[in-house]
Amino acid sequence: MLTALWLLLSFAAPGLGAYLFVTCPRGAQCQRALLSENDVLLHCNSSGAQWYYFFVKDRTRWFHNLQDVPNMEITPDGSLLIRSPLSAQTGFYSCWDKKDVQLVQYKIDFQDVTSLHITHRGLGQVPLQNDTLSLGSKEVVFTHWEPWQDCNRCGKLGERKRLGYCYIQETLEEPMPCWLYLGDVTVWNQRLRPEMQVETCYADCTTFAGKHIVFDNFKLSEQSGSTWLTCPLGSIYRPIIWEANDVPLKWEDQLSGREVGGFLDPANGGRRLQVFQPAVYKCFVQQELMGHFNPRPDPEVLETLREDASLPQAEVAGKGTADSVLKGLKLTLLVATVLGLLGVLLKHFHPSQGSRSKKVLLVK
Ligand SMILES: *[C@@H]1O[C@H](CO)[C@@H](O)[C@H](O)[C@H]1NC(C)=O
Ligand SMILES: *[C@@H]1O[C@H](CO)[C@@H](O)[C@H](O)[C@H]1NC(C)=O
Repeated sequence: MLTALWLLLSFAAPGLGAYLFVTCPRGAQCQRALLSENDVLLHCNSSGAQWYYFFVKDRTRWFHNLQDVPNMEITPDGSLLIRSPLSAQTGFYSCWDKKDVQLVQYKIDFQDVTSLHITHRGLGQVPLQNDTLSLGSKEVVFTHWEPWQDCNRCGKLGERKRLGYCYIQETLEEPMPCWLYLGDVTVWNQRLRPEMQVETCYADCTTFAGKHIVFDNFKLSEQSGSTWLTCPLGSIYRPIIWEANDVPLKWEDQLSGREVGGFLDPANGGRRLQVFQPAVYKCFVQQELMGHFNPRPDPEVLETLREDASLPQAEVAGKGTADSVLKGLKLTLLVATVLGLLGVLLKHFHPSQGSRSKKVLLVK
């Protein structure tokens, strides 16, 4: 259910998707470095579009059959959604319309996120230095930094991050993302990796409405004593922050090895959090509350509570009622969200028929 909801959210509000929305002007070729394991949508504005792809590692030929690639799908508007891309999928992606005209071509370097070099300014950690390769001419390897993302929290101290991609430049040539440059040549060099840099920041709050909140509960696995929580609509490309019982979980603490209330998964910029304690976890994306996770009460514990005569009976009964009220509330919220999204979708597709889509909703 949640997955379906997120999918709906993603399509209803492209800017808000859990994936990165990549665009390129019609008729152009665009080169981008991105990270593996983080969903992206390559935009192509043509329904019924055909996509062709070429992986530079194979250097074989252009492929067409997307059915063979389980993590790719074409959206109704003709764009290509790539879920959790592999670094081996670094290559060219070409969109053609129904009349066999090439509309756009992307050259994408999905850099291996598991080799991400993470540094925090506040801890005095420094990013990677420039280096040289000697594959023929003297190639410089350097990090091309993206702009800083927004602060992940407002009204109190937060953190912001920026992503840096590995680029190679030959003298007097345009720089290229490392693995688009290297193609099928394998080079072992510790410098060839993407980076993430974090620093402390403060931002004032502007008004916003938390309208996409997902409520869920979780249970720690008995075996590992932990579980993973996923922040809806979070992405390494967007600012995220988690709070455990209202205490923010910071990269600074994690990177300095201090004990914190969870483990932020670096591979997705902290979209996923491993938790070890039953606490209330909240996550914010773009400073907006997105997810609220409560520990699921253990049935055995509840049973013990019930048997415990020292507890006033009313309180236990109250708990049951509160639970069902909460369940009802969650259902209402879900239904409201889905209806709201349908509204957004309808508006999206028929911008001039706002009043009519309202009627449709009323009928429902
Ligand atoms: C998509 O293409 C149509 C016409 O081909 C154009 O009117 C529309 O503005 C385009 N939309 C986007 C988002 O580029
Ligand atoms: C690293 O290399 C890039 C590309 O050649 C260059 O623009 C940048 O100034 C270099 N940085 C340093 C610190 O030398």
